[in-house]
Amino acid sequence: MARQTQLVLRVASLASFLFILLRLFGVFKAQQQPHQDGLNEKTREIHIAAAVCGNRATQALVMMKSALIMCSNFIRFTLFVDSETSNVLNETIRLWPDNILKRMSLDMRPISFPKDNADEWKTLFKPCSSVRLFLPNLLKKEDSILYMDVDTVFLSSPLHIWQHLSKMNTTQMVALGPETQDYTIGWYPQFTNHPYYGKYGLNAGVMLMNLTKMRQFGWEKYVIHVYEQYKNRILWGDQDVINAIFHFHPEKLYVFPCHHNYVPGQCSITSLCQEAEQQGVYIIHGYADAFISDQLPALKAIYTSIQQHSFGDNLQMLFVNMKENLMKTPTSSCRTVMSSFFKLVLMVS
Ligand SMILES: *[C@@H]1O[C@H](CO)[C@@H](O)[C@H](O)[C@H]1NC(C)=O
Ligand SMILES: *[C@@H]1O[C@H](CO)[C@@H](O)[C@H](O)[C@H]1NC(C)=O
Ligand SMILES: *[C@@H]1O[C@H](CO)[C@@H](O)[C@H](O)[C@H]1NC(C)=O
Repeated sequence: MARQTQLVLRVASLASFLFILLRLFGVFKAQQQPHQDGLNEKTREIHIAAAVCGNRATQALVMMKSALIMCSNFIRFTLFVDSETSNVLNETIRLWPDNILKRMSLDMRPISFPKDNADEWKTLFKPCSSVRLFLPNLLKKEDSILYMDVDTVFLSSPLHIWQHLSKMNTTQMVALGPETQDYTIGWYPQFTNHPYYGKYGLNAGVMLMNLTKMRQFGWEKYVIHVYEQYKNRILWGDQDVINAIFHFHPEKLYVFPCHHNYVPGQCSITSLCQEAEQQGVYIIHGYADAFISDQLPALKAIYTSIQQHSFGDNLQMLFVNMKENLMKTPTSSCRTVMSSFFKLVLMVS
């Protein structure tokens, strides 16, 4: 009897061990495409635009690489570049592996402004960063685009943000995320005296645009109008203009949650973005040189890990390396939030 019981127990424990093993294996396979739950639209093409000037080519390449490794979709990149960066980009991208080049296209254009008013635009704004204001007319044939600042990296499939396009109602034409949601450290409530959106303002580093609707709205007319009216009070150029427009037209804006454009202010002092803790960070935006300076080592560690990742390397290894590099940084609020992200990606749930 005792023997039989022992045997039964052994078989049972072997079975459960096998079960766990299989489950683990299954989980590991699923994690080759992190955060893909419900994102079955592998055939959908994603169109990303960015402006790359001066010495920003390296960061732009890391942003593009992160987009390509986090999904298997075809990605069209439209980059507005100066002469300094176009050669660097071309030379580097030419050497990317064929299987990557097969699912991307690259359209490089010189930084320019709509012809009708080119001289006026050029003198009004800093050329590189304000390109985003003119995308509806610079890309007249395009319906929709995801504009990305070059100091951003994807930590999950770009489809996550792209699919918000189809969630906009008929009035909404642009989707943006919040600036730091805090009165004491948020930029807009503290330092501005021009109109801005909502209580804390918007960050324009990740901007999803339905260009068709923006053209129908007459977007550029509003850009120039707001600029003329507030130019003496505007400090952050294009982002302030965007905030002022949506102050007056909030119904035109779709606000996506903070983990789709995770800015340093969300964790620099304390954790302000609940979605990031619960669902993970989808896109990090290292503004104010967070990826290259030593102000927020946790964010720099994430960026550096992606920079060092080669296309051929295993994605699971990238996350393992990221976690290791992260854990080498001093304890910080950003480190805590980012390590909860790895719990989601790396552990059996
Ligand atoms: C980039 O390289 C391709 C060929 O590899 C060439 O046709 C194109 O003109 C180059 N573009 C720039 C901006 O250098
Ligand atoms: C953008 O808006 C236009 C006009 O309302 C609409 O036809 C189009 O489907 C929208 N694009 C996307 C991707 O939702
Ligand atoms: C779209 O959503 C915005 C924001 O919630 C709202 O103000 C607007 O009235 C909605 N438009 C339609 C057509 O439902």
